Amino acid sequence: MLTKREIVLGVTGGIAAYKAAEVCRELIRRGAEVQVVMTPNATRFVTPLTFQALSSRPVVTDMFAPWQEPGIGHIQLADRAELVLVAPATANLIGKIASGLADDMLTTLIMATKAPVLLAPAMNVNMYENMIVRENLKKLLRRGYLLVEPAVGELACGWEGKGRLAEIEDIIEEVEHALSPKDFLGKRVMVTAGPTREPIDPVRYLTNYSSGKMGYAVARVARRRGADTVLISGPTALRPPTGVRFMPVASARDMFKAALKEAEWADIIIKASAVADYRPLKPVTSKIKKSKGQEKLTLELTENPDILFEIGRRKGERILVGFAAETSDLVKNARTKLKEKNLDLIVANDVTQPGAGFGYDTNIALIVDQEGKAHRWPQMRKVDVAEKIFDRIQSLLEKKKKQVAKKG
Ligand code: PMT
Repeated sequence: MLTKREIVLGVTGGIAAYKAAEVCRELIRRGAEVQVVMTPNATRFVTPLTFQALSSRPVVTDMFAPWQEPGIGHIQLADRAELVLVAPATANLIGKIASGLADDMLTTLIMATKAPVLLAPAMNVNMYENMIVRENLKKLLRRGYLLVEPAVGELACGWEGKGRLAEIEDIIEEVEHALSPKDFLGKRVMVTAGPTREPIDPVRYLTNYSSGKMGYAVARVARRRGADTVLISGPTALRPPTGVRFMPVASARDMFKAALKEAEWADIIIKASAVADYRPLKPVTSKIKKSKGQEKLTLELTENPDILFEIGRRKGERILVGFAAETSDLVKNARTKLKEKNLDLIVANDVTQPGAGFGYDTNIALIVDQEGKAHRWPQMRKVDVAEKIFDRIQSLLEKKKKQVAKKG
Protein backbone atom coordinates (compact mmCIF):
# COMPACT_ATOMS: atom_id res chain seq x y z
CA MET A 1 0.00 0.00 0.00
CA LEU A 2 2.83 2.41 0.76
CA THR A 3 4.90 1.55 -2.31
CA LYS A 4 6.10 4.79 -3.97
CA ARG A 5 3.82 6.92 -1.79
CA GLU A 6 5.38 10.34 -1.08
CA ILE A 7 5.48 10.95 2.65
CA VAL A 8 6.97 13.91 4.47
CA LEU A 9 8.18 12.85 7.91
CA GLY A 10 8.36 15.90 10.16
CA VAL A 11 10.54 15.47 13.23
CA THR A 12 10.32 17.94 16.10
CA GLY A 13 12.50 18.50 19.16
CA GLY A 14 11.57 15.99 21.83
CA ILE A 15 13.33 13.01 23.36
CA ALA A 16 11.16 10.70 21.23
CA ALA A 17 12.92 12.11 18.13
CA TYR A 18 15.19 9.07 18.20
CA LYS A 19 12.13 6.85 17.65
CA ALA A 20 11.39 8.78 14.45
CA ALA A 21 14.40 6.99 12.94
CA GLU A 22 12.52 3.70 13.43
CA VAL A 23 9.38 5.22 11.92
CA CYS A 24 11.42 6.37 8.91
CA ARG A 25 12.97 2.92 8.54
CA GLU A 26 9.61 1.16 8.63
CA LEU A 27 8.10 3.53 6.05
CA ILE A 28 11.05 2.88 3.75
CA ARG A 29 10.78 -0.87 4.36
CA ARG A 30 7.17 -0.69 3.18
CA GLY A 31 8.23 1.01 -0.05
CA ALA A 32 7.39 4.66 0.75
CA GLU A 33 9.44 7.60 -0.54
CA VAL A 34 10.26 9.54 2.60
CA GLN A 35 11.36 13.16 2.78
CA VAL A 36 12.46 14.05 6.28
CA VAL A 37 12.00 17.62 7.49
CA MET A 38 13.46 18.45 10.92
CA THR A 39 12.89 21.48 13.10
CA PRO A 40 16.11 23.12 14.33
CA ASN A 41 15.41 21.75 17.83
CA ALA A 42 15.00 18.21 16.52
CA THR A 43 18.56 18.31 15.17
CA ARG A 44 19.75 18.75 18.79
CA PHE A 45 18.35 15.30 19.63
CA VAL A 46 19.23 13.34 16.47
CA THR A 47 21.50 14.35 13.61
CA PRO A 48 20.08 14.85 10.11
CA LEU A 49 22.71 12.39 8.91
CA THR A 50 20.84 9.52 10.57
CA PHE A 51 17.68 10.31 8.59
CA GLN A 52 19.63 10.98 5.43
CA ALA A 53 21.21 7.53 5.65
CA LEU A 54 17.81 5.91 6.26
CA SER A 55 15.83 7.81 3.62
CA SER A 56 18.61 8.21 1.00
CA ARG A 57 17.51 11.83 0.62
CA PRO A 58 19.02 15.05 1.97
CA VAL A 59 17.17 16.12 5.11
CA VAL A 60 15.55 19.55 5.11
CA THR A 61 16.26 21.55 8.23
CA ASP A 62 16.64 25.14 7.17
CA MET A 63 14.08 27.43 5.59
CA PHE A 64 16.73 29.65 4.09
CA ALA A 65 19.37 27.18 2.88
CA PRO A 66 19.55 27.07 -0.91
CA TRP A 67 17.30 24.11 -1.72
CA GLN A 68 18.54 21.48 -4.16
CA GLU A 69 15.71 21.94 -6.64
CA PRO A 70 14.84 25.08 -8.56
CA GLY A 71 11.74 26.87 -7.27
CA ILE A 72 10.42 27.33 -3.77
CA GLY A 73 11.41 24.37 -1.62
CA HIS A 74 8.62 24.31 0.94
CA ILE A 75 5.90 24.66 -1.70
CA GLN A 76 7.37 21.88 -3.80
CA LEU A 77 7.55 19.60 -0.78
CA ALA A 78 4.03 20.55 0.29
CA ASP A 79 2.65 19.85 -3.21
CA ARG A 80 4.50 16.59 -3.67
CA ALA A 81 3.51 15.11 -0.29
CA GLU A 82 0.67 12.61 -0.21
CA LEU A 83 0.81 12.67 3.57
CA VAL A 84 2.66 14.69 6.19
CA LEU A 85 3.41 12.68 9.32
CA VAL A 86 4.81 14.53 12.33
CA ALA A 87 6.44 12.13 14.79
CA PRO A 88 7.09 13.16 17.45
CA ALA A 89 4.83 16.22 17.50
CA THR A 90 5.68 18.46 20.45
CA ALA A 91 3.27 20.75 22.31
CA ASN A 92 5.11 23.64 20.67
CA LEU A 93 4.53 22.31 17.13
CA ILE A 94 0.87 21.57 17.88
CA GLY A 95 0.42 25.06 19.33
CA LYS A 96 2.07 26.68 16.34
CA ILE A 97 -0.06 24.98 13.71
CA ALA A 98 -3.24 25.53 15.76
CA SER A 99 -2.38 29.24 15.86
CA GLY A 100 -1.52 29.48 12.18
CA LEU A 101 2.17 30.15 12.78
CA ALA A 102 4.66 29.19 10.11
CA ASP A 103 8.16 30.17 11.19
CA ASP A 104 10.26 27.20 10.12
CA MET A 105 10.35 24.74 7.24
CA LEU A 106 8.02 22.19 8.86
CA THR A 107 5.27 24.55 9.99
CA THR A 108 5.44 26.46 6.67
CA LEU A 109 5.14 23.23 4.72
CA ILE A 110 2.19 22.11 6.89
CA MET A 111 0.49 25.43 6.22
CA ALA A 112 1.01 25.05 2.47
CA THR A 113 0.08 21.41 1.96
CA LYS A 114 -3.26 20.02 0.77
CA ALA A 115 -2.21 16.54 1.91
CA PRO A 116 -3.56 15.02 5.13
CA VAL A 117 -1.45 15.80 8.19
CA LEU A 118 -1.07 13.07 10.81
CA LEU A 119 0.23 14.07 14.23
CA ALA A 120 1.88 11.63 16.64
CA PRO A 121 2.33 13.67 19.84
CA ALA A 122 4.90 12.81 22.50
CA MET A 123 5.44 14.86 25.62
CA ASN A 124 5.23 14.90 29.41
CA VAL A 125 1.84 13.71 30.73
CA ASN A 126 1.07 17.08 32.37
CA MET A 127 1.86 18.89 29.15
CA TYR A 128 -0.42 16.52 27.23
CA GLU A 129 -3.21 17.08 29.75
CA ASN A 130 -2.73 20.85 29.74
CA MET A 131 -5.98 22.50 28.64
CA ILE A 132 -4.20 24.61 26.05
CA VAL A 133 -2.71 21.54 24.37
CA ARG A 134 -6.10 19.79 24.58
CA GLU A 135 -7.88 22.75 23.01
CA ASN A 136 -5.25 23.04 20.28
CA LEU A 137 -5.60 19.37 19.43
CA LYS A 138 -9.40 19.60 19.46
CA LYS A 139 -9.23 22.52 17.08
CA LEU A 140 -6.87 20.67 14.75
CA LEU A 141 -9.05 17.54 14.79
CA ARG A 142 -12.05 19.70 13.90
CA ARG A 143 -10.08 21.05 10.99
CA GLY A 144 -9.39 17.53 9.66
CA TYR A 145 -5.92 16.92 11.09
CA LEU A 146 -5.35 13.27 12.02
CA LEU A 147 -4.03 12.03 15.35
CA VAL A 148 -2.30 8.94 16.69
CA GLU A 149 -2.87 9.21 20.42
CA PRO A 150 0.24 8.83 22.59
CA ALA A 151 0.64 5.64 24.59
CA VAL A 152 0.41 5.35 28.37
CA GLY A 153 3.49 4.30 30.30
CA GLU A 154 6.76 5.39 31.81
CA LEU A 155 7.95 8.66 30.30
CA ALA A 156 11.53 9.78 29.69
CA CYS A 157 11.03 12.60 32.22
CA GLY A 158 10.33 10.09 35.02
CA TRP A 159 6.56 10.62 35.12
CA GLU A 160 4.06 7.88 34.37
CA GLY A 161 1.00 8.49 32.17
CA LYS A 162 -0.17 9.31 28.68
CA GLY A 163 2.54 10.94 26.63
CA ARG A 164 4.85 8.29 25.16
CA LEU A 165 5.07 8.30 21.39
CA ALA A 166 2.57 5.70 20.10
CA GLU A 167 3.98 2.31 19.14
CA ILE A 168 5.72 2.43 15.74
CA GLU A 169 3.31 -0.26 14.50
CA ASP A 170 0.32 1.94 15.43
CA ILE A 171 1.80 5.01 13.75
CA ILE A 172 2.45 3.08 10.55
CA GLU A 173 -1.07 1.62 10.68
CA GLU A 174 -2.51 5.16 10.81
CA VAL A 175 -0.35 6.11 7.82
CA GLU A 176 -1.70 3.10 5.90
CA HIS A 177 -5.22 4.04 7.01
CA ALA A 178 -4.85 7.66 5.91
CA LEU A 179 -3.55 6.65 2.48
CA SER A 180 -6.04 3.86 1.74
CA PRO A 181 -9.05 4.40 -0.53
CA LYS A 182 -12.26 4.49 1.52
CA ASP A 183 -14.30 2.36 -0.86
CA PHE A 184 -16.02 0.46 1.99
CA LEU A 185 -17.24 3.54 3.82
CA GLY A 186 -20.71 2.85 5.26
CA LYS A 187 -20.21 -0.92 5.11
CA ARG A 188 -20.20 -3.15 8.17
CA VAL A 189 -17.68 -5.95 8.14
CA MET A 190 -17.46 -8.88 10.53
CA VAL A 191 -14.24 -10.90 10.59
CA THR A 192 -13.39 -14.01 12.58
CA ALA A 193 -9.80 -14.99 13.28
CA GLY A 194 -7.57 -17.33 15.22
CA PRO A 195 -8.06 -20.77 16.68
CA THR A 196 -10.64 -21.99 19.16
CA ARG A 197 -9.86 -23.69 22.45
CA GLU A 198 -11.87 -26.71 23.51
CA PRO A 199 -11.37 -27.52 27.19
CA ILE A 200 -10.47 -31.04 28.30
CA ASP A 201 -9.90 -30.24 31.97
CA PRO A 202 -8.83 -27.06 33.85
CA VAL A 203 -5.25 -27.34 32.53
CA ARG A 204 -5.59 -28.74 29.00
CA TYR A 205 -7.44 -27.98 25.81
CA LEU A 206 -7.67 -28.98 22.14
CA THR A 207 -6.71 -26.35 19.59
CA ASN A 208 -4.91 -25.85 16.25
CA TYR A 209 -1.97 -23.89 14.81
CA SER A 210 -3.84 -20.71 13.80
CA SER A 211 -1.95 -17.59 14.88
CA GLY A 212 -4.75 -15.20 13.87
CA LYS A 213 -2.48 -13.34 11.43
CA MET A 214 -4.69 -13.91 8.39
CA GLY A 215 -7.92 -12.78 10.06
CA TYR A 216 -6.29 -9.80 11.77
CA ALA A 217 -4.90 -8.67 8.40
CA VAL A 218 -8.42 -8.90 6.93
CA ALA A 219 -9.84 -6.81 9.80
CA ARG A 220 -7.07 -4.22 9.46
CA VAL A 221 -7.66 -3.82 5.73
CA ALA A 222 -11.45 -3.59 6.24
CA ARG A 223 -10.90 -0.70 8.62
CA ARG A 224 -8.27 0.94 6.37
CA ARG A 225 -10.77 0.90 3.51
CA GLY A 226 -13.38 2.68 5.59
CA ALA A 227 -15.58 -0.15 6.89
CA ASP A 228 -17.03 -0.25 10.36
CA THR A 229 -15.34 -3.47 11.50
CA VAL A 230 -15.78 -6.06 14.22
CA LEU A 231 -13.16 -8.73 14.81
CA ILE A 232 -14.19 -11.88 16.69
CA SER A 233 -11.00 -13.61 17.69
CA GLY A 234 -10.01 -16.84 19.33
CA PRO A 235 -7.00 -16.69 21.69
CA THR A 236 -3.90 -15.34 19.91
CA ALA A 237 -0.71 -13.53 20.84
CA LEU A 238 -1.56 -10.59 18.57
CA ARG A 239 -2.51 -7.07 19.62
CA PRO A 240 -6.06 -6.15 18.56
CA PRO A 241 -5.89 -3.84 15.53
CA THR A 242 -6.66 -0.19 16.26
CA GLY A 243 -9.98 1.24 15.18
CA VAL A 244 -11.64 -2.16 15.14
CA ARG A 245 -14.30 -3.40 17.60
CA PHE A 246 -12.65 -6.39 19.22
CA MET A 247 -14.49 -9.39 20.67
CA PRO A 248 -12.27 -12.06 22.22
CA VAL A 249 -13.74 -15.56 22.49
CA ALA A 250 -12.30 -18.95 23.44
CA SER A 251 -14.28 -22.00 22.33
CA ALA A 252 -16.10 -22.75 19.07
CA ARG A 253 -19.39 -22.40 20.92
CA ASP A 254 -18.37 -18.94 22.21
CA MET A 255 -17.43 -17.96 18.66
CA PHE A 256 -20.72 -19.38 17.37
CA LYS A 257 -22.72 -17.21 19.77
CA ALA A 258 -20.77 -14.02 19.06
CA ALA A 259 -20.63 -14.59 15.30
CA LEU A 260 -24.33 -15.29 14.88
CA LYS A 261 -25.21 -12.13 16.78
CA GLU A 262 -22.74 -9.89 14.92
CA ALA A 263 -23.65 -11.46 11.57
CA GLU A 264 -27.08 -9.85 11.86
CA TRP A 265 -25.39 -6.44 12.07
CA ALA A 266 -22.90 -7.04 9.25
CA ASP A 267 -23.16 -6.53 5.47
CA ILE A 268 -19.96 -8.44 4.76
CA ILE A 269 -18.71 -11.48 6.68
CA ILE A 270 -15.25 -13.01 6.33
CA LYS A 271 -14.50 -16.18 8.29
CA ALA A 272 -10.75 -16.72 8.49
CA SER A 273 -10.83 -18.46 11.87
CA ALA A 274 -9.82 -22.07 12.30
CA VAL A 275 -12.71 -23.50 14.28
CA ALA A 276 -12.38 -26.88 15.97
CA ASP A 277 -14.82 -29.26 14.33
CA TYR A 278 -14.98 -31.38 17.50
CA ARG A 279 -14.70 -30.78 21.26
CA PRO A 280 -14.33 -33.10 24.24
CA LEU A 281 -17.77 -34.44 25.04
CA LYS A 282 -17.36 -34.20 28.79
CA PRO A 283 -14.74 -31.67 29.94
CA VAL A 284 -13.99 -32.35 33.59
CA THR A 285 -13.68 -29.81 36.38
CA SER A 286 -10.56 -31.25 38.02
CA LYS A 287 -7.22 -32.15 36.49
CA ILE A 288 -7.07 -35.58 34.86
CA LYS A 289 -4.33 -37.41 36.77
CA LYS A 290 -1.87 -39.88 35.29
CA SER A 291 -2.69 -43.33 36.68
CA LYS A 292 0.00 -45.94 37.15
CA GLY A 293 -0.17 -48.71 34.61
CA GLN A 294 -2.68 -46.89 32.41
CA GLU A 295 -1.11 -46.71 28.93
CA LYS A 296 -4.08 -45.41 27.01
CA LEU A 297 -6.57 -42.67 27.67
CA THR A 298 -9.55 -42.23 25.40
CA LEU A 299 -11.07 -38.83 24.88
CA GLU A 300 -14.58 -38.83 23.52
CA LEU A 301 -15.34 -35.95 21.16
CA THR A 302 -18.56 -34.44 19.95
CA GLU A 303 -19.25 -32.22 16.96
CA ASN A 304 -19.12 -28.44 17.25
CA PRO A 305 -21.63 -26.26 15.42
CA ASP A 306 -20.54 -25.21 11.93
CA ILE A 307 -20.66 -21.43 12.30
CA LEU A 308 -20.21 -20.60 8.64
CA PHE A 309 -22.86 -23.08 7.59
CA GLU A 310 -25.36 -21.51 10.00
CA ILE A 311 -24.54 -17.98 8.83
CA GLY A 312 -24.84 -19.19 5.23
CA ARG A 313 -28.36 -20.45 5.94
CA ARG A 314 -29.51 -16.99 7.07
CA LYS A 315 -27.32 -14.98 4.74
CA GLY A 316 -29.93 -12.76 3.04
CA GLU A 317 -28.27 -10.01 1.00
CA ARG A 318 -24.96 -10.27 2.85
CA ILE A 319 -21.66 -11.07 1.19
CA LEU A 320 -20.19 -14.18 2.77
CA VAL A 321 -16.56 -15.18 2.37
CA GLY A 322 -15.10 -18.36 3.84
CA PHE A 323 -11.62 -19.78 4.05
CA ALA A 324 -10.60 -23.38 3.46
CA ALA A 325 -7.54 -24.88 5.10
CA GLU A 326 -6.59 -27.84 2.95
CA THR A 327 -3.81 -30.36 2.60
CA SER A 328 -4.82 -31.70 -0.86
CA ASP A 329 -7.35 -31.17 -3.70
CA LEU A 330 -7.56 -27.44 -3.03
CA VAL A 331 -9.92 -26.44 -5.83
CA LYS A 332 -12.27 -29.40 -5.47
CA ASN A 333 -12.59 -29.03 -1.69
CA ALA A 334 -12.97 -25.26 -1.91
CA ARG A 335 -15.77 -25.58 -4.48
CA THR A 336 -17.59 -28.10 -2.28
CA LYS A 337 -17.33 -25.88 0.82
CA LEU A 338 -18.44 -22.80 -1.14
CA LYS A 339 -21.62 -24.64 -2.25
CA GLU A 340 -22.35 -26.37 1.07
CA LYS A 341 -21.97 -23.18 3.10
CA ASN A 342 -23.72 -20.87 0.61
CA LEU A 343 -20.70 -18.58 0.15
CA ASP A 344 -20.00 -15.85 -2.39
CA LEU A 345 -16.26 -16.47 -2.33
CA ILE A 346 -13.89 -18.90 -0.68
CA VAL A 347 -10.17 -18.43 -0.11
CA ALA A 348 -8.31 -21.73 0.00
CA ASN A 349 -4.80 -22.29 1.25
CA ASP A 350 -2.68 -25.42 1.31
CA VAL A 351 -1.45 -25.42 4.89
CA THR A 352 1.35 -27.91 4.12
CA GLN A 353 3.08 -25.42 1.79
CA PRO A 354 5.95 -23.35 3.23
CA GLY A 355 4.90 -19.68 3.27
CA ALA A 356 1.19 -20.55 3.35
CA GLY A 357 -1.43 -20.99 6.05
CA PHE A 358 -0.75 -21.25 9.76
CA GLY A 359 1.65 -18.85 11.45
CA TYR A 360 3.34 -17.30 8.41
CA ASP A 361 3.22 -13.58 7.59
CA THR A 362 2.53 -14.61 3.99
CA ASN A 363 -0.02 -16.83 2.33
CA ILE A 364 -0.37 -18.63 -0.99
CA ALA A 365 -4.06 -18.53 -1.69
CA LEU A 366 -6.55 -19.50 -4.29
CA ILE A 367 -9.91 -17.77 -4.61
CA VAL A 368 -13.01 -19.50 -5.93
CA ASP A 369 -16.22 -17.71 -6.88
CA GLN A 370 -19.83 -18.87 -7.13
CA GLU A 371 -19.36 -19.93 -10.74
CA GLY A 372 -16.63 -22.23 -9.53
CA LYS A 373 -13.89 -20.21 -11.23
CA ALA A 374 -10.59 -20.52 -9.38
CA HIS A 375 -7.86 -17.92 -9.43
CA ARG A 376 -4.43 -18.60 -7.94
CA TRP A 377 -2.53 -15.80 -6.25
CA PRO A 378 1.23 -15.87 -5.82
CA GLN A 379 2.83 -15.87 -2.38
CA MET A 380 2.21 -12.49 -0.79
CA ARG A 381 1.88 -10.85 2.64
CA LYS A 382 -1.36 -11.69 4.40
CA VAL A 383 -2.28 -8.01 4.36
CA ASP A 384 -1.97 -8.03 0.55
CA VAL A 385 -4.12 -11.16 0.34
CA ALA A 386 -6.68 -9.23 2.41
CA GLU A 387 -6.51 -6.27 -0.01
CA LYS A 388 -7.18 -8.65 -2.91
CA ILE A 389 -10.15 -10.18 -1.10
CA PHE A 390 -11.65 -6.72 -0.65
CA ASP A 391 -11.02 -5.92 -4.33
CA ARG A 392 -13.01 -9.05 -5.22
CA ILE A 393 -15.79 -8.09 -2.81
CA GLN A 394 -15.91 -4.61 -4.33
CA SER A 395 -16.39 -6.14 -7.80
CA LEU A 396 -19.18 -8.33 -6.41
CA LEU A 397 -20.91 -5.32 -4.84
CA GLU A 398 -20.72 -3.42 -8.13
CA LYS A 399 -22.13 -6.41 -10.00
CA LYS A 400 -25.00 -6.68 -7.52
CA LYS A 401 -25.70 -2.95 -7.84
CA LYS A 402 -25.90 -3.21 -11.62
CA GLN A 403 -28.26 -6.18 -11.36
CA VAL A 404 -30.55 -4.24 -9.01
CA ALA A 405 -30.49 -1.20 -11.33
CA LYS A 406 -31.36 -3.41 -14.31
CA LYS A 407 -34.31 -4.94 -12.46
CA GLY A 408 -35.55 -1.59 -11.18
O1 PMT B 1 -4.32 -17.71 11.62
P1 PMT B 1 -3.12 -17.92 10.71
O2 PMT B 1 -1.95 -18.52 11.43
O3 PMT B 1 -2.77 -16.66 9.95
O4 PMT B 1 -3.54 -19.01 9.61
C1 PMT B 1 -4.48 -18.71 8.65
C2 PMT B 1 -5.47 -19.86 8.41
C3 PMT B 1 -4.74 -21.06 7.86
C4 PMT B 1 -6.18 -20.25 9.72
C5 PMT B 1 -6.54 -19.33 7.39
O5 PMT B 1 -5.89 -18.93 6.23
C6 PMT B 1 -7.58 -20.38 7.08
O6 PMT B 1 -7.43 -21.22 6.21
N1 PMT B 1 -8.73 -20.34 7.81
C7 PMT B 1 -9.78 -21.35 7.75
C8 PMT B 1 -9.42 -22.51 8.61
C9 PMT B 1 -10.49 -23.59 8.63
O7 PMT B 1 -11.06 -23.83 9.65
O8 PMT B 1 -10.75 -24.14 7.47
P2 PMT B 1 -11.87 -25.29 7.21
O9 PMT B 1 -11.64 -25.70 5.81
O10 PMT B 1 -11.81 -26.32 8.28
O11 PMT B 1 -13.25 -24.53 7.35
C10 PMT B 1 -13.91 -23.92 6.24
C11 PMT B 1 -14.62 -22.67 6.70
O12 PMT B 1 -15.65 -23.01 7.64
C12 PMT B 1 -13.75 -21.63 7.41
O13 PMT B 1 -14.12 -20.35 6.96
C13 PMT B 1 -14.06 -21.83 8.88
O14 PMT B 1 -13.93 -20.62 9.61
C14 PMT B 1 -15.50 -22.30 8.85
N2 PMT B 1 -15.88 -23.20 9.95
C15 PMT B 1 -15.31 -24.43 10.09
C16 PMT B 1 -15.71 -25.27 11.10
C17 PMT B 1 -16.71 -24.85 11.99
N3 PMT B 1 -17.12 -25.62 12.98
N4 PMT B 1 -17.26 -23.63 11.85
C18 PMT B 1 -16.87 -22.80 10.84
O15 PMT B 1 -17.38 -21.69 10.71
